Amino acid sequence: MRRTLAQLLALATAVVIVVACATFAWSLNSAPALQQESTALDPAKIERGMKVFAAERCSTCHAIGNVGNRRYPLDGVGSRLSREAIETWIVAPQKMNPRVRKRAYELTPEDLDGLVTYLLSLREPKA
Ligand code: HEC
Repeated sequence: MRRTLAQLLALATAVVIVVACATFAWSLNSAPALQQESTALDPAKIERGMKVFAAERCSTCHAIGNVGNRRYPLDGVGSRLSREAIETWIVAPQKMNPRVRKRAYELTPEDLDGLVTYLLSLREPKA
């Protein structure tokens, strides 16, 4: 009787260890997959976005690098804001801040997608 209990305990311990290992492995594997998804931005969209940024004259208020109005720099904005937040800042800025003096841009879906992808690509340099 006592022996069976010990065996049962050993089995239970083994099961717990296997489950813990599986969970750990799964969490390690899924994290890089997520990261890859957010860093792999389509270069063609980025290029389109750069053109839209210039055509819409966003630089009258925003600087990227040393170009444009330094009052509202967008450097590293891709590290600070989500795709959704950046998009809202473009199509409905007053939803982000009701008092902001900035017009809502009406862009084609392709231009908007490109513009947001371009801004997402502006990452904070890794320290
Ligand atoms: C008339 C000036 C003006 C123009 C033109 C303008 N913006 Fe803005 N934008 C602002 C202001 C003001 C803010 C709010 C900045 C703040 O509160 O720090 C802002 C915020 C943003 C933000 C969020 C920045 C952050 O760091 O949180 C993004 C992204 C952005 N604008 C993108 C654009 C894009 C893309 C264009 C061109 C299509 C554009 N803006 C044109 C004035 C402007």
